[in-house]
Amino acid sequence: MRFEEKPVPEIQIMPSILAADFGALRDACLEAEAAGADQLHIDVMDGVFVPNISFGPNVVEVAASAVKIPQNVHLMVIDPMPYIDTFAKAGSDTILIHIESKCDAEEALKRIRGAGKRAGITINPGTEAAVIFDLLDREAADEILVMSVEPGFGGQSYIPAAEPKIAALRQRYPHMDISVDGGIDAQTVCGAAAHGANLIVAGSYLFKAAAMPAALSGLREKAHAHYGASIR
Ligand code: DX5
Ligand code: ZN
Repeated sequence: MRFEEKPVPEIQIMPSILAADFGALRDACLEAEAAGADQLHIDVMDGVFVPNISFGPNVVEVAASAVKIPQNVHLMVIDPMPYIDTFAKAGSDTILIHIESKCDAEEALKRIRGAGKRAGITINPGTEAAVIFDLLDREAADEILVMSVEPGFGGQSYIPAAEPKIAALRQRYPHMDISVDGGIDAQTVCGAAAHGANLIVAGSYLFKAAAMPAALSGLREKAHAHYGASIR
């Protein structure tokens, strides 16, 4: 393990069900769990914050009732505030909002925690890491998500400019869960983990794989092998 002198969070792999077959969603959740997923990543899009509409709390209910692993719910919505309690009740374990959303991020994070859930804060490719330092210094969030694509669609190419942001956050917050989301495959996971990401979201790569168990354990091995290597 890297970071010899400071314990850091473990690597976890989170399949994004945005890339699943929606006609067999329950089976897809079960397949991901059986393949060794640590959590499911669930992308909620409102067609306003991002130019795409995905699904709402009903899909979180389906996932939560299908599997025992936690539901990591990524809200790409213009104002998450009115929906937090609904997503909490639907079975979310972590609810992530965007700093770019039109709401008071600290209030939204408080509301998520008030509902008994882990609260996550997300930054887009165009947002510098320093924008969330204040919030994180006040321990307002339990998890950080650094987008490595523009949010809205699966299957896009990884943006390596996410890596120095992940590294800056990992150096400042060695004990936080830091997630990377977008364009992750067996190659790109190496750089993301090397810069300090421990929660690895992957949609297309896992759900389009010939065999998800092998693809998932391959991602985990690569992430372990590279974790923290670029920032020691
Ligand atoms: C993009 C979503 C991602 C997406 C990742 O807006 O937040 O979670 O599902 O998909 P891939 O892994 O295909 O880039
Ligand atoms: Zn996502």
